[in-house]
Amino acid sequence: MKDYANEFQGKKALVTGGSRGIGAATAQRLIDGGATVAVAARSRHEQTPAGASFIQGDITTLAGANDVTEDALKILGGLDILVNNAGAATPRLPGIEMITDEDWMDSLMINFMSAVRITNPLLNALRQSGSGAIVNVSSGGVIPFHGFLAHYGAAKAALSSYTKSLAKELGPAGIRVNIVTPGAILTPGGNEGREQLAAAFGITVEQLFKAIPLEGKPGTAADMAEMIAFLVSDRAAYITGHNHFVSGGQGELA
Ligand SMILES: NC(=O)c1ccc[n+]([C@@H]2O[C@H](COP(=O)([O-])OP(=O)(O)OC[C@H]3O[C@@H](n4cnc5c(N)ncnc54)[C@H](OP(=O)(O)O)[C@@H]3O)[C@@H](O)[C@H]2O)c1
Repeated sequence: MKDYANEFQGKKALVTGGSRGIGAATAQRLIDGGATVAVAARSRHEQTPAGASFIQGDITTLAGANDVTEDALKILGGLDILVNNAGAATPRLPGIEMITDEDWMDSLMINFMSAVRITNPLLNALRQSGSGAIVNVSSGGVIPFHGFLAHYGAAKAALSSYTKSLAKELGPAGIRVNIVTPGAILTPGGNEGREQLAAAFGITVEQLFKAIPLEGKPGTAADMAEMIAFLVSDRAAYITGHNHFVSGGQGELA
């Protein structure tokens, strides 16, 4: 019987946005499975896993992303697992006309270009791994298509397209690349965004959750971490190029 408790023993992982929320839970889940993990973010938070190496950096610029990948390779000495998780949604109410040119560019930089800029310099290391795996974190199919988050939805759509291209290109090298799509997940960033939206609509956050098919309840960062851990593990050895929802049915059924 395979020892799943230590399935990441000997694996080296980088998680962007691993200082809190989904990224922190993912980093902790990989550490619990035996991996050596580095997390990258602009600052440490209360939730930042103590067992991870912390790389301070802003990955919205090419120079910032390059510094992070250089540090990651120095600290880890190679790479088997990459989780491009850092992202941010900034609603612009009431809709598309409120999204400035700067908002569009900011959203593309953090939600899309950061993943491109982090992934590129790490591809050689992933090729050498022999079992490289990448997960890119997208966003639920419901809220992003509202006008007030059009810049976020478009950037995440670009990330999805890029992920599929990567999966095709890297398949022959044995590197698997998947997308995970969270629904409403309880994290500092997610909670902040939903509070803004609920206030703007004159409803409560609990009322927003009523649209979730599975008992009207939000998910946890640990729910996300479990899916990401599965996708980067050998248990998912034949899964690549797909989008995996963790959303209590939202976006899939709705
Ligand atoms: N929570 C949800 O309901 C939900 C739903 C759909 C999609 N998502 C996606 O899930 C991912 C994680 O979201 P979350 O809810 O866990 O968000 P969160 O609580 O706001 O955490 C975001 C993480 O990214 C880091 N980060 C943000 N900007 C950065 C930058 N410029 N450079 C480096 N690191 C940066 C943050 O640290 P610093 O601020 O210190 O840099 C933090 O570690 C995102 O891609 C988000 O779009 C979340």
